[in-house]
Amino acid sequence: MARLRLGILVSGTGTNLGAILDAVARRDLDAEVRLVISNIEQAPALERASKAGVPARAISHRGYATREEFDRALVTAFREAKVEWVVLAGFMRLLSTEFLATFAGRIINIHPALLPAFPGVNAQRRALEHGVKVSGCTVHFVDEAVDSGPIIAQRAVPVHDDDDESSLRQRILVEEHALLVQVLQALAADRVQVIARANLRPLVSVRAS
Ligand code: GRF
Repeated sequence: MARLRLGILVSGTGTNLGAILDAVARRDLDAEVRLVISNIEQAPALERASKAGVPARAISHRGYATREEFDRALVTAFREAKVEWVVLAGFMRLLSTEFLATFAGRIINIHPALLPAFPGVNAQRRALEHGVKVSGCTVHFVDEAVDSGPIIAQRAVPVHDDDDESSLRQRILVEEHALLVQVLQALAADRVQVIARANLRPLVSVRAS
């Protein structure tokens, strides 16, 4: 049986989801995508999942009165699908305390900036506005705040003088795809260790393969 049983939350295009599905198909990633859930019914990511033959469904947050109720529907669906690890791959919603507790220490997110710089939306645009010379992407464990959990791994890319949002987004996205698969494979192979430190954030150590 595959080592990592994944539930993937998406809201949009799903290129990161695609990178995971491709890596699983190539057997570069010892994981099984058990269920993809999009909170947006028209998200192209859902079609990407269906084409790869993995279960995918839309659960719209608009159908629920509160975040907690919506998140409970996500938990129920993931539990039924026997999901163990949750990947936020372009999921544009915050998760409730209850959801976080259910999958404690087993939720990761990918963000298109070198955190803690530029958390939240439009990270690439804000990096350009700020005039940074280097940007990149971060995979981190998820906690209650936006893009704030312990950092697992990062990749940097140069920012060119003539970059616009689209060119920078594309350059970062290439690295996102590789980084996300690399981190998931490290998790699958038990090479990721979270080390508690006095008065400091936990340090995430990733051993090389
Ligand atoms: C990525 O840039 C990811 O870092 C961010 O949302 C975007 C999703 O892109 N959280 P895609 O849907 O995977 O193509």
